[in-house]
Amino acid sequence: MATLIIPSAEYEKSYREAFAETQNEDRLDFNGTESFEEFVSRLVGYKDGRNLPNGFVPESVFWLVDEGEFIGRVSIRHKLTEHLREIGGHIGYKIRPSKRRRGYGTLILSLALKEARALGLKRVLITCDETNIASRKVIGRNGGALEDKTFIGNSKPNKLRFWIGL
Ligand SMILES: CC(C)(COP(=O)(O)OP(=O)(O)OC[C@H]1O[C@@H](n2cnc3c(N)ncnc32)[C@H](O)[C@@H]1OP(=O)(O)O)[C@@H](O)C(=O)NCCC(=O)NCCS
Repeated sequence: MATLIIPSAEYEKSYREAFAETQNEDRLDFNGTESFEEFVSRLVGYKDGRNLPNGFVPESVFWLVDEGEFIGRVSIRHKLTEHLREIGGHIGYKIRPSKRRRGYGTLILSLALKEARALGLKRVLITCDETNIASRKVIGRNGGALEDKTFIGNSKPNKLRFWIGL
C-alpha cells in the first residue's frame, strides 16, 4: 500500500532513478553537491526551519512510497508568504514521470491534506498553471474550490488558485 513517509536514505536507489527521469522545471530536488544522507537530512530539517533556502518558511516534506520504491514527493508549507499566497500555495507535489497517470497524484494530495490538518492548518491554498490539466484534476478530485485566475507575466501560463477546507 502506498504511504507517506518522512524522507529516508533507505530509498536512495529508487529516488536516484526517479531523479534521472526528471529535467528542467520538473526536476526533483537533489543538487548533487551533497551526499544522499546530507540531502535527506536537509529535507527533514525544513519542518523545524533548519537549512531553509533564503526566504523559505518552514515546510514538512514527505515522500510517497509504494512496494519499497520512491514514487513522489510533497511539501506542506506551514504558513503563507506574499509570494506563496500569489504563486506557490501551501502544498506542492510531484510524481516521478514513470509512475504518472495511475492515481498517485490524487493520492499524494489526499494524504498531504491529512498531514496539513495534523499540522493545525484549517484550509490550504493550492495553485497550478492553467495549462496543467493533470494537476487541475488532482486538485478538483480533492475538493479544491477555485478562488481566482492570476496573470503572472507574459509568456507564462495564468495561475489558478484553489482553497481546500480541512
Ligand atoms: C500533476 C501530477 C502530480 C499528476 O500526477 P499523476 O500521478 O499523473 O496524477 P493522477 O494519476 O492522479 O492523474 C490525475 C488525472 O490527470 C490525468 N493526467 C495525468 N497526466 C496528464 C497529462 N499529461 N495530460 C492530461 N491529463 C493527464 C490523469 O489521466 C488523470 O485523469 P483520469 O483519471 O481522468 O485519467 C504529475 O503530472 C506531476 O508530478 N507533474 C509535474 C509536477 C506538477 O505539475 N506538480 C503540480 C504542481 S501544481
